Amino acid sequence: MYDAALELIGAEPQPISNEEYSRRVERLTAQLRPDDLLIVPASPAAVHSNDVHYPYRTQSDLLYLVGWDEPDALLTVQNVDGTWIRTLFVQPKDTLKEIWEGRRPGIEGALNGWAVDAAYSCDDLEQQLNSMLSDSKRVLLRTGIRSDVDEIVVRSLERRDRARQHFGTGPVTIEDPSARIAELRLRKSAAEIEQMRFASDVSSVAHVAAMRNTKPGRMEYQLQATIEGFFVYAGASGWAYPSIVGCGDNATVLHYHQNNDVCEDGEVILIDAGAEYRGYAADITRSWPINGTFTEAQREIYQLVLDAQLAAIEKCRPGLPYNAPHDEARRVLAEGLIALGVITQSLEEALDMETGDLKKWYMHNTGHWIGLDVHDVGVYKPNGEPRLLEEGMVLTVEPGLYFGAWRPDVDCPQRYANLGIRIEDDVLVTANDPDVLTASCPKTIEEIEQITGTPF
Ligand code: GLY
Ligand code: MN
Ligand code: MN
Repeated sequence: MYDAALELIGAEPQPISNEEYSRRVERLTAQLRPDDLLIVPASPAAVHSNDVHYPYRTQSDLLYLVGWDEPDALLTVQNVDGTWIRTLFVQPKDTLKEIWEGRRPGIEGALNGWAVDAAYSCDDLEQQLNSMLSDSKRVLLRTGIRSDVDEIVVRSLERRDRARQHFGTGPVTIEDPSARIAELRLRKSAAEIEQMRFASDVSSVAHVAAMRNTKPGRMEYQLQATIEGFFVYAGASGWAYPSIVGCGDNATVLHYHQNNDVCEDGEVILIDAGAEYRGYAADITRSWPINGTFTEAQREIYQLVLDAQLAAIEKCRPGLPYNAPHDEARRVLAEGLIALGVITQSLEEALDMETGDLKKWYMHNTGHWIGLDVHDVGVYKPNGEPRLLEEGMVLTVEPGLYFGAWRPDVDCPQRYANLGIRIEDDVLVTANDPDVLTASCPKTIEEIEQITGTPF
């Protein structure tokens, strides 16, 4: 099955080049002062038990600026005699550790293969950082990621030694650089879009494999395995976020994660699953009938959500506010629910955020930025005003309707009881039409009914 699925995927893209990593750092240093010290840490590896670690995933800012994904890494950027020097701290070569844990590029490897000017062992971090700190006035550091680094920096701020008294050396302020880096990450380069397109392709085909593997009696985790197994089979590193695989009323729980129920004849399954490839996320939701055919009631709701999604995607255009797709999806959903008799308020009443009935059945936002993080960085309302979309931004469009008959807070319409539908794609804003990166994942009723339950 997986080999047939692989045929549907294009070739893997070239990795991000070192020239591009250098440009990213240059864009950042262009905003800095010569006596700034930028420190980009990553979280320590987390222990599962004894000597077993959780799979390591570094901090996305570090990945963005240098592409280094090993544990114990830290990047600094400091101006020395007019040149911005990038220094990477890495795990040193260590044969015994490498026999157990895997080969390490080490200091030489970092210098030869990555866009850095200097590299040191992570064991030398404190000494090297202290020396850099004494030459800086402002430290750009996101605190709370590595407590040992925070401590070194705070100590250097507090230090009142002779050198500081005589020469005024040492930092006096800390600034969080996250917002500056987020502004860069928000606009994707051509090379980033290629990575995201591949993650999207893998994820689309994984959903198709799960549709084809669906039949009454399947367990939710079996479809989860079909999808996540394909992510790895296709060369992705795994999931970008834990998969949501919910059948029947489980689909009405937005972050359902147990994935341990049986898929019953007559139910619809909602699967929200996306791969991570070279750090870049895809985020796809599809909903399909377990027996391959939507009932009339399911079809009504599915088509309404699809209409809302298509209308919202049309609003992913440069110059429109980031929330235009959300407003559009809400309008289409409210009109549809009024037409179906689910909502008896006027359109304006239904859309009211306090008293409107739409939010009983559609209670989340229509999308978010996506990139190195599935919920990617970037302020939605800088200065309090909705940000306008620009070419190169990528956002998800994911309206849904959820009729949880188990909910005590609403009177669920019997016709749609325990039906949850969401349709989610990842959309690149371009100068022309919106470019749906996940377009190869089928979503019309006809396509879905044709594919579901039919092996490759
Ligand atoms: N998968 C999480 C989300 O759709 O936002
Ligand atoms: Mn999403
Ligand atoms: Mn999702």
